[in-house]
Parts: sequence; structure tokens; C-alpha cells
Amino acid sequence: MIVLGVAGGIAAYKACELLRLFTESGYDVRVVPTPSALRFVGAPTWAALSGHPVHTDVWSDVHEVPHVRLGQSADLVVVAPATADLLARAATGRADDLLAATLLTARCPVLYAPAMHTEMWEHPATQANVATLRSRGAVVLDPAAGRLTGADSGPGRLPEPAEIFAAARTVLDRATRGLDHGSRAFSLAGGLALDLAGRHVVVSAGGTREPLDPVRFLGNRSSGRQGYAVARAALARGAEVTLVAANVELPDPAGAKVVRVRTAAEMRDAVREAAATADAVVMVAAVADFRPATTSATKIKKTGSDPEPIALVRNPDILAELAHDRPRPGQVVVGFAAETDDVLANGRAKLAAKGADLLVVNEVGEGRGFGTADNAATLLGADGSAVDVPLGSKERLADAIWDAVAARLPR
Ligand code: C5P
Repeated sequence: MIVLGVAGGIAAYKACELLRLFTESGYDVRVVPTPSALRFVGAPTWAALSGHPVHTDVWSDVHEVPHVRLGQSADLVVVAPATADLLARAATGRADDLLAATLLTARCPVLYAPAMHTEMWEHPATQANVATLRSRGAVVLDPAAGRLTGADSGPGRLPEPAEIFAAARTVLDRATRGLDHGSRAFSLAGGLALDLAGRHVVVSAGGTREPLDPVRFLGNRSSGRQGYAVARAALARGAEVTLVAANVELPDPAGAKVVRVRTAAEMRDAVREAAATADAVVMVAAVADFRPATTSATKIKKTGSDPEPIALVRNPDILAELAHDRPRPGQVVVGFAAETDDVLANGRAKLAAKGADLLVVNEVGEGRGFGTADNAATLLGADGSAVDVPLGSKERLADAIWDAVAARLPR
């Protein structure tokens, strides 16, 4: 059972869509709005969409002890939107309405999706409350930047409901898998064991495009899905994530800082800048090894004669440079390699050539790899280790990568 907590912000209307995403996927959801949330969206809406009665205070159905029962029996509590006031009450352990009491009794993962005006989000009081909640194992997504209520814009927007839903599923999946293995992935303090909390990680995704002229480019088929799954998995484990995305047409993962680039040169600048403060860098992107030696400022014309050959020059190898320069001591550098044959031998050679700590070797072809939902890989370590990740979702592979990275991070 999932508890959807809704605090009193204008983004409460977006929680209706989030609720539908949960119920349409078969989840049983109890909605717990705060009294002020009901001024934005009324109880009948929540009751109709969830199929359950809706209460905000601890005085209804007292014989069922709802202020304790809901938190105790939830598999996940998602608070969306989480206002500055709700975060403050949660951080200080208040129990002054049903949602706050539920948060205090929850022994399951808790995911907060804050939404508020930029000033409130950036205020040291709110930031301290967020840090407290994160230190206790809650996943607090950074709000998205963009248009806020009225004429304002800046960080503070509620991430898209589909992305909050994806984050919730990743968190649930991880907690359930922890239970499968007999170890609880979340602690009794009511939070997940977030092994990447307090860590900054950089993930590159997508495929670079090297322009020939204003309308043509040399590119590749990378969809960005594996890179986005790696970013989401890190967010669900508590990391601050910078996602450098090259030509990806996917929605921003909730909570990630997304930097959009087009070419290998732009990707290099963005990755290097973010890597300066990163604990780990995972280069999932398909970066063009070569680019046209010249880019025409105007569209190249078709001439009557034979076409001119395209001269290429080498692009810098971002992964090899990072592995060599190590901008931060103890930083874990991870590369990807797509191979079609002699996968392990080629992977070992590439790992050595790049100087990375880990190489995720993918066998591509036969409907695997690019553009598909599933992936299989072997994680090769510079220490000689090899971990096989059988064919499964890109999310599973992403989590296996973070298991390997987390084990290599300095304490
Ligand atoms: O050499 P290859 O292209 O197979 O290596 C793939 C790995 O190296 C990926 O992690 C990719 O992101 C990275 N790479 C890079 N810069 C390049 C080419 C590849 O960082 N110019």
C-alpha cells in the first residue's frame, strides 16, 4: 500500500495525475492531504481517484488508529508536493495532522517531491530541513527549475508526475529487492539505506552529433535510456546527480540537474566542469570518436560532380582524459563499451586503454542495447573483477553499476 501525502501548494493539482499513474498501474493508494491541501483540491477528488475515504486529521475513524496504522502498513510514502512547511514539520518530528503523524510512524521508504517558490526553497531553514530528512534516509528530490505560479521562474517547480512516479518505482523496487535478499534496504529509522547520500555523481547519456553544416550531422542511435536509468538509480540512492544529456528526447529525471549538449566538445566541457566536484563519473553516452574537420556555415550544396570525401579529425576521449587527470582524489570513473564480438577480451583491453576503474561491457546486436528496454552486461573492474548482470531492465543494470561504484567509493 502506498501513502500519497499532499501538502498545501498549488502543485497539489498535479498530484491527481500522479495518483492516477499509481492506481492505473495497480497500486493501492491512500491519499493523505494536509488541511491546506484541501483548499486546492477537495477530498471528493482524492476519494474518487483513489477509491478510499480521505481524512486529514487524526480524529476520524479513531477506532482504526489511523495516525499509526497508515504509516506502519505503508510500503512507500510519497509526499508530492512537499511544501516548505511540510518539510519543516517532518524534519522536526511534528505530528499535528494525519500526514505528519503518518511520516512519524512510517517504517518504509519516504520520497519527498518539494515544490515552492525559489526563495522558500533556497532559504537556509528549508535547506537545513532537507539535509536533516536526507540524513535520516529520506529521498528528497530537488525541485525542477522553470515557471512558477504567477510571473516568477526559478528552481521550485514540482517535477513532472510521470517522473515522480518513475522515481517512486525505483525506490520501491530497490526496497523490495533488499527484502528479497533478506536484508532490509531501508532502516528502522524509517528511511532507505541511501549509500549515495551526500555524494555528487555525473552521468553522461545519449549520443553526440557532430555537425557537417547547419542541417546535417554525424551521429549515432543512442536513445539515452540506459544513461537516464543510471541517473534515476543514483537519485533513488540519495545522490546529487548532474546528467549531461546529448540529444536525448526523454523527460528530465525528477531531481536531476540536466545539462543539455549536442557535440562531443560540448559534452567534454560540461562533464569536466561537473566532474570537478564529483565522487563518481559514469560515461554512458555514445560519444563520436571523430568529427568533420570543417563545419560549413551554410548548407553544403549538391554539385553535378562526384561528392567530396568528408575529412575527419579525432575527438578528445573524455573518459580516458578523466581517468588520467582524476580531478578529484578517490573519484570513481566508469565507462561503457558496446561490443559485438569477443566481448570480454575487447572489454579488458578497453578498460586498460582508458584507465577507468570500471567498464560496463555490453554485447550489442540481436535486439539488445540501443533503444531497447532491456540490457545485459559484464562489469569489469580494474582490480580484475568481473560481475555478470543477466539480461534484465536497464534499471536493474543501473543499480548493479551503483553497487559496484558504491563499493569503490572512499568512506
Ligand atoms: O572507445 P569507445 O568509444 O568504445 O569507448 C566508450 C566509452 O568511452 C564510453 O564510456 C564513452 O562515453 C566514452 N568515450 C568518451 N569520449 C570519446 C569516446 C568515448 O568519453 N571521445
